Amino acid sequence: MAGSRILNRAFRERIVSAEEAASLIRPGDTVGMSGFTGAGYPKQIPVALAKRIMDANLRGEKFRVSVWTGASTAPELDGALAMVDGVELRLPYQSDPICRRKINAGEMEYLDIHLSHVGAFVRSGFLGKLDVAVIEVTGILENGDLVPASSIGNNKIWLDYADKVILEVNSWQSERLEGVHDVYQGFALPPHRKPIPLIHTADRIGTPYLRCPAEKIIAIVETNAPDRNAPFSKPDEASKRIAGHILEFLGDEVRKGRLPKDLLPLQSGVGNIANAVLFGLQDGPFENLTSYTEVLQDGMLELIRSGKLLVASATALSLSPDKVDELNAGMDRYREKIILRPQEISNHPELIRRLGCLAMNGMIEADIYGNVNSTHVNGTAIMNGIGGSGDFARNAYISFFMTPSTAKKGAVSCIVPMVTHVDHTEHDVHVVVTEQGLADLRGLSPKQRAELIIERCAHPDYRPMLRDYFRRASQSSPGRHTPHLLDEAFAWHRNLLRTGSMKAG
Ligand code: COA
Repeated sequence: MAGSRILNRAFRERIVSAEEAASLIRPGDTVGMSGFTGAGYPKQIPVALAKRIMDANLRGEKFRVSVWTGASTAPELDGALAMVDGVELRLPYQSDPICRRKINAGEMEYLDIHLSHVGAFVRSGFLGKLDVAVIEVTGILENGDLVPASSIGNNKIWLDYADKVILEVNSWQSERLEGVHDVYQGFALPPHRKPIPLIHTADRIGTPYLRCPAEKIIAIVETNAPDRNAPFSKPDEASKRIAGHILEFLGDEVRKGRLPKDLLPLQSGVGNIANAVLFGLQDGPFENLTSYTEVLQDGMLELIRSGKLLVASATALSLSPDKVDELNAGMDRYREKIILRPQEISNHPELIRRLGCLAMNGMIEADIYGNVNSTHVNGTAIMNGIGGSGDFARNAYISFFMTPSTAKKGAVSCIVPMVTHVDHTEHDVHVVVTEQGLADLRGLSPKQRAELIIERCAHPDYRPMLRDYFRRASQSSPGRHTPHLLDEAFAWHRNLLRTGSMKAG
């Protein structure tokens, strides 16, 4: 029933079409949109804005906006705006193929920053002015409180700092989400910051609602459209083996008394490998698990359902359509066990360090010394972005990076002499895992790390080349602490660019 999700009478008078709402966004505006990993992003206004931009382009007028979000969104937002060349600058994370193409063609500026930094940077004024916020919500209560949708991300900061606010009230989002969210209200700038009073993963330290001064809300659009989270593919053999190595390692750590039996809060990156680890935990020996992470994926819901996972704290749901239905149907059971927070809290370095998270993230490549590239293919082209991996890796109790040992049907080794771009330095990488094995780098010098990574993680096809490189570098590198033959190290990547394979090296 139209308007049924907008209980506040005054707000009901602000309902307009998506086209009217989009017309309130001006060329050159900076727009803060909701959305995190395909959840809780506005569904209609970005499409209407893209249409407006396209019409302007046809008239020969330049119309571009800067787009800030929580993290990646979906084709209706990133794809639609990039397609019409409507984005001047994008931050802080994207994974859209059209955006990626534009960024790598030099046609769109991209600010790839730690997800935990965004709110603090806006509050500090580092990023300039936010003109408009476009936020998807589940509903508006009689008192004007906003029931958040399937992600929170940066919504609070956008609502607080934007000059004007446009809401999309999406009746596809389950009303039963009410109560799942925990919006911390105590953010401040130094020197007024106080300790964040979150002691346990399950603690609630805020309110279930977002708030916004009524006078800022200039338009409301009603929608009914699903989030766009694709189903996860079944874990392939490599993912299962990576998961197996990690579970075996965790078991060993428990036996050695270095981890409690119920482990420590798990952070799991996005993607199929991370999901495979979660599914692996389902059959593993660990009970009473907790998770302090960014996105809640299918594997986590399974763990909650089976009783293995007691609580999951995140900023977004990233569930396949089947799992969304399962969550909504069982919400009364799940509500106590799932908490969605602003990303400044889900990714807060101080909390991650104090809780002692076990961080598991994907990577593009690692070098033999343990430096990790998560973002750039061959040093110059962005894949997605650093996302929250830096927030977690730098502060985790144990920080894992995982990848299959090769890419591109074996033409590329994901273990290389020197990474072409560094997102996570050797100082923040504790464990490297491929389907070949696991290298525990803690307490090892660079040369010890190199031997272990080559022998445990590299693919057998590349091991002889890497051994040979390391042996010769150890004999003739000008400095012998981290031995390198610089020309040769880069020849691996040069060969890949020239011939499509590293084997040519
Ligand atoms: N060289 C060149 N290309 C490589 C490569 C390498 N060493 N390793 C992977 N790739 C390519 C793959 O071929 C694939 O390309 P395609 O889509 O054209 O086939 C693409 O990179 C993605 O690889 P895939 O194996 O599907 O990896 P994934 O889905 O597990 O993602 C990352 C891996 C690194 C891209 C992803 O984890 C990421 O974006 N990480 C950074 C953000 C992050 O960690 N977020 C979570 C924090 S909470």
